[in-house]
Amino acid sequence: DDPDDNQGPLLGFTAIATSVANEVKVAAGYTATPFVPWGTPLTGALPEYLGDGTNTGADQEQQVGMNHDGMHYFPIDFKEGGSSSEEGLLVMNHEYIEPDFLHPDGPTEVGGARPEAEVHKEVAAHGVSVIHIKKTAGVWDIVHGSQYNRRVTGATDMELRGPVRGSDYAVTKHSNDGTLARGTLNNCAMGHTPWGTYLACEENWAGYFKSDDDPKPRNLSRYGVGSNSRYGWDTVAGVDVYERFDASSKGASAADDYRNEPNTYGWIVEIDPFEPASTPQKRTALGRFGHEGIIFGLVEEGKPIVCYSGDDSRFEYIYKYVSNQAYYADTASGALLDDGKLYVAKYNDDGSGEWLELSHGVNGLTVDNGFADQADILINTRTAADFVGATPMDRPEWGAVHPTTGEAYFTLTNNSRRTEDQVNAANPRPNNQYGHIIRWRENSGSVTAFQWDIFVLGGPAGTATPGETAALVTLDDSNKFNSPDGLWFDKRGVLWIQTDTGGTEEFGNDQMLAADPSTREIRRFFTGVVDCEVTGVTSTPDLKTMFVNIQHPGSKNGDGSYTSNWPDGGSARPRAATVIITKDDGGVIGS
Ligand code: FEO
Ligand code: CA
Ligand code: CA
Ligand code: CA
Repeated sequence: DDPDDNQGPLLGFTAIATSVANEVKVAAGYTATPFVPWGTPLTGALPEYLGDGTNTGADQEQQVGMNHDGMHYFPIDFKEGGSSSEEGLLVMNHEYIEPDFLHPDGPTEVGGARPEAEVHKEVAAHGVSVIHIKKTAGVWDIVHGSQYNRRVTGATDMELRGPVRGSDYAVTKHSNDGTLARGTLNNCAMGHTPWGTYLACEENWAGYFKSDDDPKPRNLSRYGVGSNSRYGWDTVAGVDVYERFDASSKGASAADDYRNEPNTYGWIVEIDPFEPASTPQKRTALGRFGHEGIIFGLVEEGKPIVCYSGDDSRFEYIYKYVSNQAYYADTASGALLDDGKLYVAKYNDDGSGEWLELSHGVNGLTVDNGFADQADILINTRTAADFVGATPMDRPEWGAVHPTTGEAYFTLTNNSRRTEDQVNAANPRPNNQYGHIIRWRENSGSVTAFQWDIFVLGGPAGTATPGETAALVTLDDSNKFNSPDGLWFDKRGVLWIQTDTGGTEEFGNDQMLAADPSTREIRRFFTGVVDCEVTGVTSTPDLKTMFVNIQHPGSKNGDGSYTSNWPDGGSARPRAATVIITKDDGGVIGS
């Protein structure tokens, strides 16, 4: 029974209550099982997870990383045109680390410097895991010893592609010709391409760097690179791969120091999970900002590809990329992401919208106005978007595209700093604590014009999304939610919404809901554990196994105990993990 043939109601389950429990909960008739937690042995010597934080950096390079985030399931037979729901590559981001949990007694510093061994482990716990998984007698497990199992970390060799490759802006001591990069960090949401590759997105990368330069150039200051780095990796003296996080000008030219190293971050990184030896490619034509994720519009043979990406920071923007070359399934590759036009969204109060092109010589993006060339525009995407007059949004997080209509939905998670005089129709609430979901439909035959509306406003029970004459939807206890973040359409057209608050008294632990996009009916399907965020959602093609991530469960109490011991229980330190959700009757998830 192909899910495409499923003619039942979109939402067939009964909503569950909010939860403050230290276990994951899912709708009646479903089972949720933890899978591949942080530290699970994955490659090489398969070092076993040690529950006291004593695994080394070398161990961590061979284990699943920390703080699971965006994720995608690739059927193992994808390249042969298959759609296996029994075996595949589960690829996921590890956004950031909790040093308190990573090390035996938290992070240390000696004489103002971080110990190299700790930094090694922290860098290794970031990045991406490619996990070959297989279902045997109904139970999913890792295919141990598979050539596909792989860790990409904050130190993995990568290449720059697109207009920034080989430019002066990318010249570093490590890459005098401006073509190489190392590592990917703070990978939040993700994307996947029609040609079977994974796209890791670099979000809050700026905090990993420091610079003593004063004033700081706009390629640092506009992104928030400050005078101190979050984890102090730059303080490991004499180790080039860590010292590069100090972006101060030190040498005679950019080829002698790492002033340009931050220009090698803020990109979309393409990883081919089916080619374990392949070098990840940073696709610079897609722009440099705090990429939350990337989502493709509907793909049509012989037409350009279209993708959308949000910049998750207060008052930042939503972008669109359109390839210059047409898509053909037989030949499509990452080259489509190297040659195209970048646009940024303007939402007019009348429900119309415009995509403003960010190309050199267009919309005033000229030398006279401070943009030297296309590489300069891409390095300074935020500054270019400011210049053309894009609409500052309430923190654009994930996007999702409806599988048949092509309508795009984006979460705007919250923005406590929007004031009364800054509201507009697309960001209608001052002090937007609860967030909302916006959607748009491209005008047919136009690359630059679209129509938009608000799908739902988040908030407590009683929160109404206003329509012209009556509320379009009013939340109640079965579907109240706060700070929508993860967003995904399954191929039946169910919109899955995940929240990121870290837990609140009003809303309980973070959760996942399902929505019918045509009726705006919304039901709570799943709840996470204490202090976690629910993020990352994908499924097998038959929609009978869903994978969801629990990020940053638990926090440390003053007495050294944890607010959650999930998933190991007892007094164990908490571990981010995937959750496998199945329907007890073997049916389609959500039906
Ligand atoms: Fe990493 Fe935008 O959340
Ligand atoms: Ca997020
Ligand atoms: Ca978030
Ligand atoms: Ca997060």
